[in-house]
Formats: sequence, structure tokens, C-alpha cells
Amino acid sequence: MLVARRIFPEVLDRLRQHVEVEANETDDVWPAAELARRLQGKAGALTTGSERITPELLAGTPGLRIVANMAVGFNNFDVPACTAHGVLATNTPDVLTDTTADFGFALMMATARRMAESEHFLRAGHWNRWSIDMFAGAEVHGSTLGILGMGRIGQGIARRGAHGFGMRVIYHNRTRLDAATEADCHATYVSKADLLAQADHLVLVLPYTADNHHAIGAPELAQMKPTATLVNIARGGIVDDAALAQALRTGQIAAAGLDVFEGEPQVHPDLLTVPNVVLTPHIASATLKTRRAMANMAADNLIAYLTEGKAVTPINPEVLNA
Ligand code: DGY
Repeated sequence: MLVARRIFPEVLDRLRQHVEVEANETDDVWPAAELARRLQGKAGALTTGSERITPELLAGTPGLRIVANMAVGFNNFDVPACTAHGVLATNTPDVLTDTTADFGFALMMATARRMAESEHFLRAGHWNRWSIDMFAGAEVHGSTLGILGMGRIGQGIARRGAHGFGMRVIYHNRTRLDAATEADCHATYVSKADLLAQADHLVLVLPYTADNHHAIGAPELAQMKPTATLVNIARGGIVDDAALAQALRTGQIAAAGLDVFEGEPQVHPDLLTVPNVVLTPHIASATLKTRRAMANMAADNLIAYLTEGKAVTPINPEVLNA
């Protein structure tokens, strides 16, 4: 099997106890042709969000049986094409939920309270006196937290807001949560239009699909309060980054916090020049404990499938029963 990116040595050792492994031991992403070449004769692959599993790649790698993504999101996989080729796809749910919810909440707070902007000001030596409204930000406690995408991570953020910060939580999701989960999260289901209009802090946690490409673009930003903040820890492409930079520059919304970007690791140049945005390099799940758990879960899937035909967290379980 193939490990497409550098992972923890102990996880690589564990894989090697069960299967023959060729590994990329660097942080360089193999271009598509190189990935396809290295997958020749391999039954499995451990991937990250950077490796795309496309119909073309699958057509050229007939021996491939499993692709194990070291991420909960799997928009880098063409899942129907995997299923059509009899390739099992797996991801790493649950082990990163709380770590990612912590980060989403932290990014929302940093955005609301202008932490990055004020730190840059201080580091640049501009702080020479106190003033009454210097870097005055938006209240977090007691304000309205809007969540678009109410899966496990969205629910974790809702609980943090409602239980820890006394926030009123509203959400919109493809499917409404059951009453018990809504009660546990203290969350009220609203339409997308009401979510946009009412949220003081809007956090995006929905999976990327073609249908929600630019789910937040100029028309949606225009429906938000001028005092509102927007946080994206979901995927690049859900927000129209050019429209967001424009909305931040003109004060259509107050501030944004972004951990994911369209075309990352490239960042839209306009976002780099607006001050009221906190930018982080896709690190929401990045604690060593969680990244180890993610790598181990991807390895568990590979070992279980390649040695016993089983899987821990299949995305397309129909392949198991085929
Ligand atoms: C995920 O798991 O989908 C995160 O974005 C980490 O890459």
C-alpha cells in the first residue's frame, strides 16, 4: 500500500507490521500523475485532503481496493466513482470533533475580539497610548451564535456557546436535528435567511459539495448584520473569498475568521490586505493527540480492510457487501 504524505513514524511502523508499505516521508504533495504512478500495484492508500481520488485516477489503478482519508471531510474523493470501481473509501470522524469545535470557538472569539489585528498593531510598535474604543470588538457572551451545518462539530460549537457563554444558538442544516439533540445543544432551527439576518457570529461547519459551492457569497453577505462576524472552519469554496474580502473592506460585515480557503494553500490576495480578518492555515484539528488519533484511525481502516475485509469508518459501506 501507499502512504501519500508524511505521518507519525509509529503509525507507519504499525502499518508495516501488517502490510507492505511505500511511503512519502516528506510534506510534498505528489502531483496527480505521480500519485497514479506510485499507486500502480497497490491495494490501499492513506491520503490527506490534498490528494484527489478522481475517476481518471481510479480508472488507471485497477488494483486499488481502499482509500483511507486522514480527515473527516472527503470532498477530495469522488465517492460514487470509488463505489463504481469497488474501492472502499474511509474517513476519520469523531476523533477530531471536540478539538475542531474548540478551534472554531477560539477562531470566533479571536475574530469578534480583534485579536490578530490588535496583535499586529502592537508588534508593529503602534501602541503608544490607551484609548477608549481601541480595538473595540463585538460581544460574544449573550449574543446570537448562528451555525450553518449542524453535524457533530457544529453541535460541539453550539454546546460551547450555549452552556459556556450563554449564547442564543440558531442553526440551519439540510436536515433538522431531533428534538432531544436540539434541546441538548439549546439550538433553534431557522431558515438560512433567518440565520443570516439574525446571527451576531456565524460559524460555517458544513461539508463541501457542489451544491454548496459559494453558499456564502455576495448575496448572503448582504443579508448579514454590519456588526456580524463570519467564521469558516469547513472547507474553502463554501465561501466566495473575493466577495468576502470586498464585504470586509466595505464594512458590510464586521470581521471574519478563516481556517480554510478556496485553492489553499493559496490565499486570495485581497484577504491578505484587509485588516479585519483572522487567517489560519487549516489547523482546526491540529493538536498532536488528535492528529495521532486521525492517523491511527486511517491505519485501522487500512489494516482491517486489507487483512480481514472489514472497515472501521466506511463512507461507502455498500462496497463491503458487494
Ligand atoms: C478534516 O478532517 O476534514 C479537516 O479539515 C482536517 O484536514
